[in-house]
Amino acid sequence: MLVEINNIQLHYVDEGKGKPVVLIHGFPFDHHLWDNQVNVLSRTNRVIAPDLRGFGESDHPDDIYTMTQYAADIIALLDLLQIKKAVIGGLSMGGYVALAIAEQFPERMEGLILSNTRSAKDTAAVRQNRYNTIEKINYDGTEFLVEDMVQKVLSKKTLNQNSGVVEFVENMMRRQDAVGMKGALAGMAQRKDRTFILNTIQVPVIVINGKKDSLISVIEAKRMVRELSVGHLEVIPGSGHLSNLEQPEKYNDILKRFIESWELVEHR
Ligand code: MLT
Repeated sequence: MLVEINNIQLHYVDEGKGKPVVLIHGFPFDHHLWDNQVNVLSRTNRVIAPDLRGFGESDHPDDIYTMTQYAADIIALLDLLQIKKAVIGGLSMGGYVALAIAEQFPERMEGLILSNTRSAKDTAAVRQNRYNTIEKINYDGTEFLVEDMVQKVLSKKTLNQNSGVVEFVENMMRRQDAVGMKGALAGMAQRKDRTFILNTIQVPVIVINGKKDSLISVIEAKRMVRELSVGHLEVIPGSGHLSNLEQPEKYNDILKRFIESWELVEHR
């Protein structure tokens, strides 16, 4: 579906009925990152998976996409769909957006899924690397990024044993546009540290990390959990940064258990 929000056309999928769950993709992907979760969770829930501005079939204005803007886009979509509250989930950059929602719109959140993500801002070295990547995209296009990222976002096991997932991830990245990638890189580089938000969150939180995630370590995930007032960590063995794609059954079970347990609490 395509809708007009905040002066752009935003594309999203909306499947199933029940308690709404919003799944926000990472960089440089689109809503297809969540295909498996949309299929499975939509049997019991309403699942909404947007293409963030700059990605998939959403518009990609030549701009810096701040996490604050992304959060405002998600809330504008919820407003349009007349959804007052939803479970908000994000993987990696999607998690940065979910934390911006937790900061700016806590009243719209019924639960929070922080997957393979961090609350800290970029280190100076990571920030510089993002600006170098933007420069390189200007000269070389995006293929170098696809080849580099696929090695980083998947575990060795997935890279060696699951050519289907490798191909799926490469194709998804190849479909993305240079302008969109640069907008998100600049937005991530500018984002602030949102660690201070963690102990203010009043809804159930689950932190999920791949044991073999080479971009965000389990140590970082544990550090985030320690800051939370309500929340726990699930580590998925054998998985890298894209644990929802690399170990979909385990990942879906974790999401289902999280949503169900919290429904029980809610109706006690
Ligand atoms: C992602 O998967 O969204 C990115 O790796 C996040 C990042 O570059 O910080």
